[in-house]
Amino acid sequence: MIFDTHAHYDDNQFEEDCETLLNSMADGGIGTIVDVGSSIASWAKIEELVKRYPFMYGAIGVHPDEIGELDEVQFQRMRELLKNEKMVAVGEIGLDYYWDKEEHDLQKKWFIRQLNLAKELNKPVIIHSRDAAADTLDIMKEHARGLSGVIHCFSYSAELAREYIKMGFYLGIGGVVTFKNSKKLKEIVREIPLESLVLETDSPYLAPVPNRGKRNSSLNLVYVAEEIAGLKGISYDEVVEQTEKNAKKLYRL
Ligand code: NI
Repeated sequence: MIFDTHAHYDDNQFEEDCETLLNSMADGGIGTIVDVGSSIASWAKIEELVKRYPFMYGAIGVHPDEIGELDEVQFQRMRELLKNEKMVAVGEIGLDYYWDKEEHDLQKKWFIRQLNLAKELNKPVIIHSRDAAADTLDIMKEHARGLSGVIHCFSYSAELAREYIKMGFYLGIGGVVTFKNSKKLKEIVREIPLESLVLETDSPYLAPVPNRGKRNSSLNLVYVAEEIAGLKGISYDEVVEQTEKNAKKLYRL
């Protein structure tokens, strides 16, 4: 079944119909979902979700856009929350120079601290990096040695893709690969072995064609899997099976 490695059902956009939607996942072919932390406010909601739904797991972290709210007290709370065995990764963490909401030095500082926390707790990491290719790679080379994880919503070059795969990371592929103007990403998906790709939605964001612009949910991953199958000239089932295997390896399930 389909494994969604990156979703945000803690988001307010799911407030009204979260239960109905999550109860429909099995019928829609979705087997497992990892709900990824972005803000400090998301953590308590993720705790609730993973307690309630056996097929859901969580990640705890602070997104670079929200890093201004992180302090030592909350960092300690992160460490405690990650001791729950259903919390399978540290994330999402990284650098975002596109929205550029926080000082670069502050983003870097907490990115490194969270990488080190992942090392301390022996958990994989979920990396968010936008318009910050060089700084992300520098930090990863220096501080992510020995770590594994996923580069979420991969948006850089084929050369960088190969570099991260060499470091033992997976590439997260979502709705963007179905967009007509995503030529570079389509090329990367064609080239990179299926063994290094995982499926993700980033729900409620980045819905694939034909639902582009609408609220996204894990149910839309069928369109992403179909696109990958078409690009690689393999069957839909092979994409679903192999990416599920990869995701389980990634999150050690
Ligand atoms: Ni996300």
